[in-house]
Amino acid sequence: MNHNLPLVDSFGRRHNNLRISVTDRCNIRCFYCMPAENVTFMPRRELLTFEEIASIVRVFAGCGVTQIRLTGGEPLVREQLDRLVAMLKAVDGIDEIAMTTNAVLLAKHATKLRQAGLDRINISLDALSKETFFKITRRDVLGQVLEGIEGAIAAGFRSIRLNAVAIANLSETEIIPLARFALEKQLELRFIEFMPLDSDRNWDDSQVLSGPKILQIIEAEFGPTVAAPRSNKSQPAVDFLYAAGNGRLGLINPVSSPFCGDCNRLRLTAEGKIRNCLFSVEEWDLRAIVRSELASDPQALGRGLQDTIRQCVFEKKAGHLIGQEAFVRPDRSMYQIGG
Ligand code: 5AD
Ligand code: SF4
Repeated sequence: MNHNLPLVDSFGRRHNNLRISVTDRCNIRCFYCMPAENVTFMPRRELLTFEEIASIVRVFAGCGVTQIRLTGGEPLVREQLDRLVAMLKAVDGIDEIAMTTNAVLLAKHATKLRQAGLDRINISLDALSKETFFKITRRDVLGQVLEGIEGAIAAGFRSIRLNAVAIANLSETEIIPLARFALEKQLELRFIEFMPLDSDRNWDDSQVLSGPKILQIIEAEFGPTVAAPRSNKSQPAVDFLYAAGNGRLGLINPVSSPFCGDCNRLRLTAEGKIRNCLFSVEEWDLRAIVRSELASDPQALGRGLQDTIRQCVFEKKAGHLIGQEAFVRPDRSMYQIGG
């Protein structure tokens, strides 16, 4: 269904991946993302409806977007998410639907989501000790998360990844247990460097536990690793294979080695703004278009949405400036963007 020109920006990057936040709500409070309390969430009516999301996705698909990832907040706190999965799966041109979840509610929903056509799941799991898990998430739900992981395995998902945000002076003791757990379950584990998107605005670079440091900790325990060949250059993780040949480990190093040059992603917020970068300080309003009089004419709606999407892509910057003087932190925090 690629009738229209692909979404190529002024640096030649082609965008085939759209990350959709379905809610800013979450059932836990990770400190690298949300405030501890008194969170103001968007009122319900501000959120795009599933029908509005689908009509936007049809336009993206017409411009070469093939991959969708559902994010939040926590996507599973939105009712009937499986209905959205089925609707998006039916869009011509969409090859793959993935979801990033904290897995607290996953045990209950995994089978329905799989039946609706969800292809892949990334599960956030930062710690296996109850104490560290609580320090990070400020909620005592590690048991539910582990049940969620089992639920996803039992539902037959073929691609389940674990994502762990790595924080200096906190995550070091979790690295080996997480690596062992992933090996045992035969799931891919990826460590992500802490980025300045926490609501508390406490981030500073001394809190980043860098990918190279994590690799040192891993190699001290498991022996030398070898870099795995890159299968897809837009994949942000650099993969390493264990010498024992029993698994791989991914490192996502947005702070110590930015991968913006190969970025293929665009983001749609829960209330219908599009962003060309996690660190974008500008947004384009698609909800205003889907809720305008254009909505009664599918062709005019498609043109209107496409013009705005192309403007957003055209204005994408070369990359983020974390660590440089010119860096401007976006107003939104991670839960208001979607990871
Ligand atoms: N830095 C790095 N990763 C983050 N995530 C949330 N906030 C941050 C941050 N400040 C991760 C979550 C999840 C995904 C949505 O993004 O752990 O895996
Ligand atoms: Fe919720 Fe994800 Fe933010 Fe944690 S990182 S508070 S799980 S939205």
